[in-house]
Amino acid sequence: MSKQAPFILTIVGGGSTYTPGIVKSLMVRLEEFPLKEIRLYDLDAERQLAVSKVVEYVIRQHTNDVKLTVTTDPAEAFTAADYVFAQMRVGKYKMREHDEKIPLRHQVVGQETCGPGGLAYGLRTIEPMIQLIDFVEQYANDAWIINYSNPAAIVAEGIRRLRPDAKVLNICDMPVGVMRNMAAVLGVEREDLTVNYFGLNHFGWFTEVFVDGEDKLPELREHIAKFGLLTEDISVIDVQHSDPSWVKTYKNIKPLMDYFPEYIPNPYMQYYLMSTDIVDDSNPEHTRANEVMAGREKTLFEAIRTFEETGEMPEAFHVGVHGIFIVDVAISLAFDRRERHLVIVENNGAIANIPDDAMVEVPAYITSHGPEPIRVGHIPLFYKGLMEQQLASEKLLVEATIEGSYEKALQAFTLNKTVPSARHAKTILDEMIEANAGFWPDLQSRHTLVRN
Ligand code: NAD
Ligand code: G6P
Ligand code: MN
Repeated sequence: MSKQAPFILTIVGGGSTYTPGIVKSLMVRLEEFPLKEIRLYDLDAERQLAVSKVVEYVIRQHTNDVKLTVTTDPAEAFTAADYVFAQMRVGKYKMREHDEKIPLRHQVVGQETCGPGGLAYGLRTIEPMIQLIDFVEQYANDAWIINYSNPAAIVAEGIRRLRPDAKVLNICDMPVGVMRNMAAVLGVEREDLTVNYFGLNHFGWFTEVFVDGEDKLPELREHIAKFGLLTEDISVIDVQHSDPSWVKTYKNIKPLMDYFPEYIPNPYMQYYLMSTDIVDDSNPEHTRANEVMAGREKTLFEAIRTFEETGEMPEAFHVGVHGIFIVDVAISLAFDRRERHLVIVENNGAIANIPDDAMVEVPAYITSHGPEPIRVGHIPLFYKGLMEQQLASEKLLVEATIEGSYEKALQAFTLNKTVPSARHAKTILDEMIEANAGFWPDLQSRHTLVRN
């Protein structure tokens, strides 16, 4: 069936803190990406219903011609849907808190998508993502799923293994966040930049940053050596990324480049290359999950309450690169614009000396048939070595999930660069098994292969 605008779009994780920003971004682009219906789908009816109040308000500020449907029923959510945006957080912030705090109790990086926390989140998310793909296949109109759900690297590998033909495009807003800062430093618009980049998701490097055909990486390197990847006036930075912890993260680009000045690292490299500093600087009792719950989540839900009580909508959310990027990608997919974006794709030679079956993050032209990756060529041994270690950790984690293998889960944790020893890996894994009861597949061979 061919897709005819105006489209039906379903947002999975309708109750997400990011939903209002994405919908606002859709509303300002309605002429380019015409919609007749937006559907919100979530497992948590109450949370989604609250968020839908803001969504309804945002839509009605722009149009009466887009219907809003709010549902927990997959048939209602996906029947005849043309596009699907996915942003599920399996286990919600409560489980994110465990992902971050359990490793920190053992002086290991506690992070949502990196290290043991990311591996734990991966073990929770693969199965629900596969279920989503199957719902979309069953009910929708041959729809593309544009997926933000984390941990994106592991989710992408899980999909590659289990549903290799599914029309899923996995994306991350970190590179565009970095590009927004680069543009601010250079005094240009983000859209003026053309970058070269290679890596895995949350694990990569910008190798060239062109403006009007000139590589500005040397100029950025000089700036970063003084200020990190921040403008002197940080007020030009996006609200989400101007929280103190994000400011620290962008400042850490400086020490990372003091060590390795060749390329500009993805900010997430701090967790792998500065892991001991990160642990020393973390508060095991109060992590990013607590900041987000007391910040972005609280602001949104308080605003919804005020709106219901007074009819006045306080400033409740922010659009930013996150909302803009997913709509950019959708438009390029829908109308074969062949715009160049950094996305997660199966390598197949894009990075010449990385295995074909790696899910990598590289520039690609986004066409109506999907992403056409751009060839990166050979990468230097240091980066290749780092990537291969991370790749093996992520692939073993996916195998552990599919096979229900405790042994492979332990190998995945041990191989992760944030984890100092097999003892740390085992202690953290065992605590995480308890904390993730009901979310993780049963890691059967724990009992057969491993003696306590
Ligand atoms: P959130 O907890 O506010 O929202 C997530 C929603 O997903 C919740 O309402 C939850 O009930 C719902 N959910 C959980 N499991 C589900 C399932 N199986 N089916 C449908 N809905 C389900 O979280 P958030 O902070 O707004 O983030 C949402 C997601 O987007 C997370 O996975 C986050 O990591 C991801 N994210 C990714 C990027 C990226 O760069 N790829 C950027 C930002 C956020
Ligand atoms: C960046 C990353 C996302 C991640 C988010 C976390 O945007 O690209 O993958 O989910 O940061 O932000 P938060 O504010 O929830 O810590
Ligand atoms: Mn990301």
